[in-house]
Amino acid sequence: MYNLRRIGIAVVLIVLTWFGLTALHQHLDPNTSKSEEEYEDAQWIATSTYWLDRQACRWMGLCGLAHWQPDPAVKPWNKRVLSRGQQKLLDGDEDDQADADFPDWDHIPGDGERLQPGDWDGDPRVLKDVPQYVLDHAPLIHLYSGERFWPSDIRDHLTHVTAYANHTSLNVSHVGLDNLHTLNEGYRGRDLFMHSKEDVEERPDWLSSAYNKPIPYDDPEPEEDPDMGELEYGEDTGDEPSEEELETWFDPLGDGKKRKVAQPLPNNYRSPRQDLRKRLLPEMPKPGGYSPAPAVLVIVDKGNGIVDAFWFYFYSYNLGTTVLGIRFGNHVGDWEHSLIRFQNGEPKAVFFSAHSGGLAYAHKAVEKGKGKGREGRPVLYSAVGSHAMYAQPGKHPYVLPFGMLADVTDKGPLWDPALNYLAYHFNTSITHGADAKAITNPSIATMQETLQPAASNPNAPLGWWWFKGHWGDKFYELSDLRQWRFVGQYHYVNGPLGPRYKNLGRSRVCQSRGVCRIVNSLQEGKKRSWIG
Ligand SMILES: *[C@@H]1O[C@H](CO)[C@@H](O)[C@H](O)[C@H]1NC(C)=O
Ligand SMILES: *[C@@H]1O[C@H](CO)[C@@H](O)[C@H](O)[C@H]1NC(C)=O
Ligand SMILES: *[C@@H]1O[C@H](CO)[C@@H](O)[C@H](O)[C@H]1NC(C)=O
Ligand SMILES: *[C@@H]1O[C@H](CO)[C@@H](O)[C@H](O)[C@H]1NC(C)=O
Repeated sequence: MYNLRRIGIAVVLIVLTWFGLTALHQHLDPNTSKSEEEYEDAQWIATSTYWLDRQACRWMGLCGLAHWQPDPAVKPWNKRVLSRGQQKLLDGDEDDQADADFPDWDHIPGDGERLQPGDWDGDPRVLKDVPQYVLDHAPLIHLYSGERFWPSDIRDHLTHVTAYANHTSLNVSHVGLDNLHTLNEGYRGRDLFMHSKEDVEERPDWLSSAYNKPIPYDDPEPEEDPDMGELEYGEDTGDEPSEEELETWFDPLGDGKKRKVAQPLPNNYRSPRQDLRKRLLPEMPKPGGYSPAPAVLVIVDKGNGIVDAFWFYFYSYNLGTTVLGIRFGNHVGDWEHSLIRFQNGEPKAVFFSAHSGGLAYAHKAVEKGKGKGREGRPVLYSAVGSHAMYAQPGKHPYVLPFGMLADVTDKGPLWDPALNYLAYHFNTSITHGADAKAITNPSIATMQETLQPAASNPNAPLGWWWFKGHWGDKFYELSDLRQWRFVGQYHYVNGPLGPRYKNLGRSRVCQSRGVCRIVNSLQEGKKRSWIG
């Protein structure tokens, strides 16, 4: 009897919470327009063969209730304790610093005008090489210690997915980084999907890319040491790579001659010709922080001495977050990015992407790396599963109250993307006041955009950049046993569009339209959610 009453109360509470959350979500969600998924709502519901399911979905927002099951990161069940409690905050001591100097780098002058790409033709500041200051201030990423979905190589990812228009295979083989754009022909980008060949719930190896976990550092992050700042980074104990080695895009160390920050080459560094042998020798030593998955560095010269260095990080899978034990928001393919804005070679601001928004920090407020080759470089934290980027370790609640929905970061393996990246220069119009998402509209994409590989990797593939479609599966139909939707939130959502759609022409450092306030301390950043 007592138990029965308890169960009854629990059910009522859950239902009330449910409706409360729906209302709250709608209230808090800054984007009142419907998502791509919601537009296709009616069609999606109709895919269910069960009348009861369709009605529960239409009228109560409970879609695919019978499909619900735990969705652990690893199968078979191997539950990990994700929350390790609130980690010590790294406080910025500049909280009340009202910034005397007007941050003119914060907003490119000439709002309302279109600065055409041609405007900086012949300008000596148009750099073909990756400027050294970009590498000197390259970000360092703390991945989560219990992460199950590590950085992935986009080249590798494309071998495990196949082109779809909605839920229909296009039966195309042989699309890779060089010719991915050929899929655009005859299709709207929003209908194109790179659908995984395997069931993601089987957790195939490529999905988790555990082999791309960064190599641990020999020297763990040293404790606070005032002398560390005096270290010289020019010294190089390893052999210089040959010209031939430097010419290959996969050279993990980029232009070795100009390298100041990079780790010394290991003594047994091998030429690309020995690449095959390398593959056969998985124990091949690499410098600490190295991941076999290259990051993508895109440099956008915005004129007036302002250069934006976009670092893109790709993961084959985004494991959504759980609310009340139910997982939402999984998707295949996950593009995250950070932006470091320079003015005349000085780093000014760092933007951290998180979900549909993100936060911009003053460069001086962001935690800096310690140890040889890491000194002074901004440190970013990538949340478990979602890979959203934050400036500090700990719990980062968003959208829902009481921390019911939160990203978690910690000082897990440190990834140095500057040890392995594909570098490009991108020429685009400055999108004053426009939202990143507006650019997905093909009618706006009429501006002349150019992408060139940087001098350090002249043969870097280009086709993938122009692909207009999604880098993962279309959200599964309601009839698919893997799919559910409660409170408007799907278990599986669409894979993301490529980096080209992240508003690289932004005038302010934030990705989205609206207020872009530069956060001046880590403490202040902790208080602000992505909505702010
Ligand atoms: C809201 O999201 C939809 C789809 O994700 C997008 O088309 C729309 O432009 C967004 N609106 C705003 C104001 O961000
Ligand atoms: C920018 O675009 C113009 C013309 O569209 C081109 O001539 C120039 O080389 C481009 N610059 C870069 C860095 O791509
Ligand atoms: C894909 O689905 C959308 C929405 O249901 C539809 O408008 C579009 O025509 C479909 N495209 C293809 C190529 O099937
Ligand atoms: C792809 O092949 C399958 C089976 O051979 C076929 O049913 C389907 O219609 C094909 N799709 C396209 C777009 O040609």
